[in-house]
Amino acid sequence: MLLALPLLAMLTTAPAIAAIIPKPASVVAVEGTFTLAPHARIAAGKGAEEVAEFLRSALRPPTGFGLNLGGRAGKDTISLALDRKLSRLGEEGYLLEVHPDRVEIRAFRAAGAFYGVQTLLQLLPPEVFRSAKVEGQVWQAKCVKIEDKPRFGWRGVLLDPARHFLPKEGILRFIDTIAQHKLNVLQLHLTDDTGWRVEIKKYPKLTQVGAYIPEYLADYDPPKPKNGPRGGFYTQNDLREIVAYAADRHVTVVPEIEMPGHAGAVVAAYPEVGLPDSNVINGEDSSIRFMQDVLDEVMAIFPSKFIHIGGDEVDKSFWKKSARVQELIKQRGLKNEDEYQSWIIKQMDAYLASKGRRLLGWDEILEGGLAPGATVMSWRGIEGGIAAAKAGHDVVMSPTSNLYLDYYQAEPAEEPLAIGGYLPLEAVYGYEPVPSALNAKEAERVLGLQGNIWGEFTPNMKHIEYLAWPRLAAVSEIGWSSGAKDFTEFSGRLAADFARLDAMGVKYRPRTGSPIQALGEWTSVEASTEWVVREWDASEEMAKAGPYTVRFAYTHGAHRFHVRWAELVQDGKVVARDEHAGSAAWDVSANTYALASPGGGQLKVRAEVRYEGSDSNGILYAIRR
Ligand code: ACM
Repeated sequence: MLLALPLLAMLTTAPAIAAIIPKPASVVAVEGTFTLAPHARIAAGKGAEEVAEFLRSALRPPTGFGLNLGGRAGKDTISLALDRKLSRLGEEGYLLEVHPDRVEIRAFRAAGAFYGVQTLLQLLPPEVFRSAKVEGQVWQAKCVKIEDKPRFGWRGVLLDPARHFLPKEGILRFIDTIAQHKLNVLQLHLTDDTGWRVEIKKYPKLTQVGAYIPEYLADYDPPKPKNGPRGGFYTQNDLREIVAYAADRHVTVVPEIEMPGHAGAVVAAYPEVGLPDSNVINGEDSSIRFMQDVLDEVMAIFPSKFIHIGGDEVDKSFWKKSARVQELIKQRGLKNEDEYQSWIIKQMDAYLASKGRRLLGWDEILEGGLAPGATVMSWRGIEGGIAAAKAGHDVVMSPTSNLYLDYYQAEPAEEPLAIGGYLPLEAVYGYEPVPSALNAKEAERVLGLQGNIWGEFTPNMKHIEYLAWPRLAAVSEIGWSSGAKDFTEFSGRLAADFARLDAMGVKYRPRTGSPIQALGEWTSVEASTEWVVREWDASEEMAKAGPYTVRFAYTHGAHRFHVRWAELVQDGKVVARDEHAGSAAWDVSANTYALASPGGGQLKVRAEVRYEGSDSNGILYAIRR
C-alpha cells in the first residue's frame, strides 16, 4: 500500500498525452509515437483545403519544413477529411487519430477539422508555437485516438478598444491565442463615451472627432508619443483584415456599437444625435436613422449574424429632464423612459432583422420590454439570462461574478491596478453556464458564454494578455468540455498551456500565490439593511490548520456589503476572530479578515454584516497563507 499510493498518484497525474486545453470529450492512448518527417505531406479532402493551408503555415516557421499539400492519406501524411456521415460531430467536432506513421483528422465541417488541427498542435512539443525554426527539435506526438466536440457554440471573449485603442496587430495576435484554445467569438466594443473606433464613411466626424476626445485621452490612452496623436480608430479595411484573419481561424468577430447610452463619442461628433451635455442618443427619428446608417456600414464590414448594440447602463435621467424626449414618449404612446429605451432597441431589432441579422444586447434591454428578435448577454449576474431564456430568447452568459476578466485575479495589493472586483481562476473555472433555474427546454436557449476584458485599465495588449491568461483557458474549457470539472486536474494541464504561451511570447499570469477556496456567497435575495449575523460552512475549505485570509469579494449589484467582524467557529466554539470595519464593493476596500484555523471538525465562518441596499452580491474566499 505504501508503495502503491504514490505510484497510482503518478499515473493519474502524469501529463503525458492529455495536457490538452480545452479537455477533449474522449482521449484513448495508443502504443507508439508519430514523428513528423520533413518530407511529410498534408492531404486535404474536399472542403478541408483551407484548414490544410493553415496547418502548413503553422508548421512551417518552427519546423522549417515546407510540407507539400495534396495526395491521399497514407504513410507520412497528415490527412484532413470532411465526411457527411460524421454529422454526430456537429459543426465543430472532430476525430483525430495519431498513428505511428500518419495522422488522420476527420470532421463533419471545416471548423471541426480546424479544431482537430489545433489539438494536433497541442500534442506536438510546445515549441511548435514559435515563429522561427527551432534547431534540434524532434517533432513527435504520442499516438492517440480522440473524439471531441464542444458543449456550446458561443465561446466568446470581449476586447474593448474604445477605452484604450488597441493596434490592429495586437488584435490579430490575440486571435491566434484564442483560436488555439478553441474560442470562436471575438466581440469588439468599438464605441463608447471614450472613443469611436470604426470608420463610418457617411459620418466622417465619428472618427475625426470621436476617435480623439480630449477629456478622455488623458485618462484612457497610453502616454502621448512626442508630437503624435493619441486615440485612434480602425479603417474599414483594417476591420475587414481583422474579420478575414479571424475567419481563417474560425473566429467570428461580433461588432458592438453602443446605443442609446455610452454614446458620448457620437454626441461629441454629431451633437444633433444626442442630448446636450449627455452621453445618450436623443431618440429622434433622424437619430434612429443615423444609427441605422452606421449599422449599414458595420454590417458591410462584419458578416457576423449577431450585431451587438450595447444597451447597458443608459443614464435615463437625461431623458427624464428633456422636455422634447418627454414629448416623444407621449407621441409614441410609451409609458416611461424604460419603454423609450425599449422602443429605440426595437427599431434596431427590426432594422437588423430586415437585413437578415440578429440583435444582441446587454441585459438592460429587458427593461421596458424585450425586442422580439433580441438575444440577451447576461452580465449583471445571471438573472437577465434566466428571464430572457424563460421568455424564449437566446442568451449568452457573461456574468461579472465569474466572467469579468478585467477584475483582479489575485490579491489586489499585489496586482496591477484593475477596475475592482475579484475573480481568481478558480471562480472562472467553477462557473456553470446553464442556470439551474432553467428547465431542459429553456436551457437550450443558452448559446454559450463570454469572458469580458474591459479596457479602462488596460493600456496595451501585454496588459490584456496578463488578465486573459490563464483565465481564458478556463473560459475555453467551460465552454467546450462537457465532462465533470476538476480544478486540480485542470491546474495540472495548465503547465503545458503555459509552455505553449511561453513559446508564443504571451504574457500570462503565472500560478503563484496560495490556494484559494470559495466558501459561499452573499446575494441580493437575503439582503438586510440591518446588521445581521451570517454563517458559511468552511469545514472542507479551512480543514488544514494554518493562517487564512477570508475575503468578501463583491461580484455585482448596486450596493455595498459591510462587515463588522468575522469569526471562525469550530464545533460551535469561536476559535479565531478579526474585528474591523470592512466593506466589499467594486472598488475593493478593506474586506479581508485574518482567521487562523486549528484544522478539523465542523468549521464555520461567521460574520456580522449589513447590505447598504437591496442589491449586492459576492463570493467569500478562504486563502491559505
Ligand atoms: C457592462 O459591463 N456594462 C456590459
